[in-house]
Amino acid sequence: MNIRNVCLVLGCALIAVLAVAATNQKARPFAPNVNLETGQIRVPENYTRWPTLGTWSHAKTEGEPGAKEYHVVYTQPETIDYYQKHGRYPDGAVLVKELINTKTMPMTTGEAVSHATTIKGWFVLVRDTQGRFKESKLWGDGWGWSFFNADNSVKTASTDYQVDCIACHLPAREMARADADESDKWIYSFGYPVLRK
Ligand code: HEC
Repeated sequence: MNIRNVCLVLGCALIAVLAVAATNQKARPFAPNVNLETGQIRVPENYTRWPTLGTWSHAKTEGEPGAKEYHVVYTQPETIDYYQKHGRYPDGAVLVKELINTKTMPMTTGEAVSHATTIKGWFVLVRDTQGRFKESKLWGDGWGWSFFNADNSVKTASTDYQVDCIACHLPAREMARADADESDKWIYSFGYPVLRK
């Protein structure tokens, strides 16, 4: 092999290595929480090790004291770093909203205190800036949208985000920063003070 051919082979090898690295870079935040072929989302196994973005306390009705449910939202630490720097959610950001049942009882610190008991289910959103999974009814408007019942964290129970999710997320758009990314306006970000530096 002459020197010219050696350079050619080395050049091709370098291009191949860079191409694989670029593909991995793209897939990295999605796997293993999203099946890259089908777009199937699962509840990330390690999400309770992630920082919480915020907590929503859902009051009991009819004048009873305490909370009926807590909704705790978790995300990867990188998502918070990125949002603080750029003011938007990065590609691959996963938002897990855990629904938790509660029990309310009198405690020494106050009249009635609620605490978390059992998990009721999860809502999961995955940011997609590339418009992947165009065929799937669980992806669109810049996100993958899925609901999971408490007894199955790998099988999505919802079927169509336009039917199951969008209407309830419309009010978030009115509360969003005027200069927010159009897809990010679907998120109730005002409940997450950690995103504001
Ligand atoms: C009945 C109304 C309703 C429906 C239906 C609904 N959401 Fe939400 N969602 C909300 C509200 C209100 C919040 C703000 C936090 C809270 O109080 O739970 C929220 C927050 C979230 C969050 C936390 C991030 C954020 O936007 O603040 C995720 C994740 C989420 N929803 C995913 C989904 C997905 C996926 C679906 C469809 C499968 C869905 N939601 C359907 C009302 C709804």
